[in-house]
Formats: sequence, C-alpha cells, structure tokens
Amino acid sequence: MEKIAEQARGRLWFQLYMWQDEALSYQLVQRAKDAGFEALVVTVDAALGNNREYNQRNGFSIPFKVSARSIIDMLRHPRWMVSVLGRYLATSGMPRHENYPARYQHRIAFGSGQAKPVRQSGMTWADIGRLREFWPGKFIVKGILRPEDALLAIEHGADGIVVSNHGGRNLDSSVASIDALPDIVAAVAGRATVLFDSGIRRGSDIAKALALGADSVLVGRATLYGVAAGGQRGAEHALKILRSELRKTMAYLGCTDVSELTPDIFAKTAPVRRETIETLPSQE
Ligand SMILES: Cc1cc2nc3c(=O)[nH]c(=O)nc-3n(C[C@H](O)[C@H](O)[C@H](O)COP(=O)(O)O)c2cc1C
Repeated sequence: MEKIAEQARGRLWFQLYMWQDEALSYQLVQRAKDAGFEALVVTVDAALGNNREYNQRNGFSIPFKVSARSIIDMLRHPRWMVSVLGRYLATSGMPRHENYPARYQHRIAFGSGQAKPVRQSGMTWADIGRLREFWPGKFIVKGILRPEDALLAIEHGADGIVVSNHGGRNLDSSVASIDALPDIVAAVAGRATVLFDSGIRRGSDIAKALALGADSVLVGRATLYGVAAGGQRGAEHALKILRSELRKTMAYLGCTDVSELTPDIFAKTAPVRRETIETLPSQE
C-alpha cells in the first residue's frame, strides 16, 4: 500500500473488508491514513467467503494447489509461464497479500493450511459509524442494494455509496444492481455520491447507469479481462474501448455532456404484439 501511494499517479482509494480482529482492521486503515489515501471504501456485501463452484471445477483455490490438471494447463500456456509465472519468480516471488499483517502474509501458491484472518461476519451500522469517525477522508460504503440501507449509510456518515451486487459473484439470486439503482438514487436525493457497479461491459452500460442517476461507475472484470489478455496495456485498452463506446453512445443519443444522460434516453415501447405484425402490409 505504501509503495502504491509512493509510485501511483492519480487519486488513491483504499478498500477494506473488516476482519473479526478489529484491531488488525484498524491498523490497516491507519496505514492507509498515513500513506495519504483519499477515500476509504468499506465493502459490506461479502460477510462470508463465497462458494464458487466454477473455481472448484477449474481447480482454482488460494493457496493454489498443484494438480496434474493445473500442470498440464500451465504447460499448454508457455507464453503465460514466461511472462507471468516466470516474471514473478524472477522478481518478487509468487504474489502474497502484501497488505496483510506479517503473520498472514503467505505466498498464494504451493502452500496449504495457512492461517488467514477471518472476515467479520457480524458487522453492524455502529461499526460503520465508528470507522467513519476514525477516517478523516471521504468515506464510501460499497454493496448497497436497498434505499433503506443507502439512507442508513448516509446517517452513519457516508459521503458516498456504491450500488453493487459484487458483480453477481456471491449471491446468485441477488437483484441486478441496475434494477436497484433508480429507487436508491431517488432516496439519496443528492445527499451522497452514488457510484454504481456490476455488469459494466460496454460504454452503453455506462450511459444507462448515468442516465438512471449514478454519479459515476466502477469497472471490475472489463479491465481484468484486459489485464489477462495483455497486462497493463490490455487494461488501458479496455478502458479506451469503454471511453470510446461511451462517446459514441452519447453522440448517437444527441448528448454532448454526461449531464444530458437522463432517463428519457430510454424508449418506452410496448412489446410488439402478434396482431400488430399481422396488420403490417405484406412484402410480396
Ligand atoms: C477478481 C475479483 C476480485 C474482487 N475483489 C474484491 C474485493 O477485494 N473487494 C471488493 O469490494 N470487491 C471485489 N470484487 C468485486 C468488484 O469490486 C466489483 O464490485 C465487481 O467486480 C463489479 O462487477 P463487474 O466485474 O461486472 O464490473 C472483486 C471482483 C473480481 C472480479
């Protein structure tokens, strides 16, 4: 975290999952404070570890477990072996959770039975209020899907909220965050910044979220796909595509500024009925 603060350009936000050991969480937040991070983002929608069956199916876990399948998989990707695995081994060694307290800083690969900090699963609004008091900068609560919770976040001092269902990666039956957005925007009524994420894949998705009242959007996998395909340049390219698509979408909608993206960009069409089709003049 300190290295990023020193070397990164741009504005710095720190995202926190509260641990059961509150003192450890506060030590981390203190480090973010000391390193000059501008905003603290507390994620509240992932109280427990998830159950991603696709990870089990694909043999993915942290720490990583070597299996015949994973070895074959690596051997089939020689470019990845050199540019990713090789680079790690030649420089910093296998990655680890650099920000974790020293006793939990294990390499993510080739270990098992390692102690890890336990996520706080019983967090309350009082905990959010206490963190707010501790943090001097902008304070953002991430993972809001109900207007009532947005109001509670504001009541407990949030400057902003992130309307998010964690990319649909935890609760299969969660409401889509785009469906939750309009009611939340109406409830917040300008008293806090409303950020939006989960499902932004195209510039037109950004236009839709802004039109429904989000002040801004966050992007998760779209940039990660870029990283997977081409490292930093891949991520930059993904952002470039999103920016270009947003500009084109705005141009096609006749908007010259994002403030012109309002709910009236959505067509209010009724579904086409069979009778309507039958009354169309024949093409023959
Ligand atoms: C690989 C991966 C790791 C993530 N890790 C975190 C995390 O540590 N904390 C967090 O609040 N959200 C995390 N998220 C969720 C994202 O912050 C974000 O809410 C979500 O990816 C948005 O959906 P999108 O990927 O469709 O853009 C993660 C998402 C992915 C794909």
